[in-house]
Amino acid sequence: MPLIRLAYASEATFEAKPLEKGVEPHVARILLVSRRNNGKVGLVGGLYYGDNRFFQYLEGEEEAVRDTYQRILQDPRHRNVRTLIEEPVAERSFTNWSMKYVPASADVQAFLQKHHLPEFNPSAFDSTQCEEMIDLIRRSSQDQKLVNYDEPVRSTSPAPQTLSPGLKAGLVVAAVGLVVALAVSATML
Ligand SMILES: Cc1cc2nc3c(=O)[nH]c(=O)nc-3n(C[C@H](O)[C@H](O)[C@H](O)COP(=O)(O)O)c2cc1C
Repeated sequence: MPLIRLAYASEATFEAKPLEKGVEPHVARILLVSRRNNGKVGLVGGLYYGDNRFFQYLEGEEEAVRDTYQRILQDPRHRNVRTLIEEPVAERSFTNWSMKYVPASADVQAFLQKHHLPEFNPSAFDSTQCEEMIDLIRRSSQDQKLVNYDEPVRSTSPAPQTLSPGLKAGLVVAAVGLVVALAVSATML
């Protein structure tokens, strides 16, 4: 099955609410469903939300990408969806992320300044800007622990309990003392 990549820009239809755990709540719900669904069909990619606009990048098997995009196109939480890239790729470049989220970051501000863009309006990105944005999402590691708290899968087993060296030494001394005390008291009987 051939692999393809797809990028689009759109405008959010909801009014942005205050961030919860570093993510706008509507976007958090989108991420939750995206990660669940994309993981099942082997899709990888990233989502950027800023200035009430979305930029999303998807990679995976052609059928999975197209089916997912059909659902995304019909989603009333955004409008004016504009496909920016849709083409075959030889291999995946977003290993591990079913949907990486990139928060408004210094990287994106620097990108906008570099291109003299007053706001984040990905519908107007040229192909160079698209590639730079994809690369920015690919490289982004900022706040990933905070905003991608459910990805990637982490071990849930508790860390093994260990004794500090000082406590260990204290226990050894106490044990030796106890043995000596027992031995002494035994000789006195
Ligand atoms: C900006 C945006 C990005 C989305 N990205 C994805 C995605 O990557 N994968 C996905 O399955 N759904 C995505 N969705 C949600 C879909 O539109 C749709 O609600 C969802 O796939 C339905 O899944 P369900 O049938 O499991 O409830 C996105 C929605 C929006 C508004």
